[in-house]
Amino acid sequence: MERTFLAVKPDGVQRQLVGEIIRRFETKGFTLVGLKLMQVSRELAEQHYDVHRERPFFSGLVDFITSGPVVAMVWEGEGVVASARKIIGATNPLTAEPGTIRGDFGVSIGRNLIHGSDAIETARREVSLWFKDEELVSWQPSITSWLY
Ligand code: TYD
Repeated sequence: MERTFLAVKPDGVQRQLVGEIIRRFETKGFTLVGLKLMQVSRELAEQHYDVHRERPFFSGLVDFITSGPVVAMVWEGEGVVASARKIIGATNPLTAEPGTIRGDFGVSIGRNLIHGSDAIETARREVSLWFKDEELVSWQPSITSWLY
């Protein structure tokens, strides 16, 4: 089954939106298979955002991601990678559609509340970067037969 990596960024944790954000993925019908609250190291932040290393916003982004606790998660379900990106909304919260997480709760690109893997390959890389195998739990909620 497809998996994606999601992280509530420090602004989302400070604004006490963790429950609201988790609720959106739960009620959609995706399954939580990994979850931890963590203080992100500079090394992990730099590896995570490696593709942006040469961009002007890179060091500010690493400062931000390491500025407070983050809630790292792995979610599972059919088509979860693309669907989670839709639920999250566009990178800039000001242009993100209402109804999306960023569209409903954010106003600034540098404070856009949540990260979600942008493709299946990226998701594989990010899940293994952030989680050890033994931190992930394979399980099937009893409602599954009503979803698929
Ligand atoms: P990106 O991977 O393009 O967006 P997304 O998170 O939607 O996949 O960029 C990673 C993060 O970098 C983004 O969530 C916010 C930050 N960022 C900026 O601060 N300024 C920018 O101009 C861009 C493009 C991104």
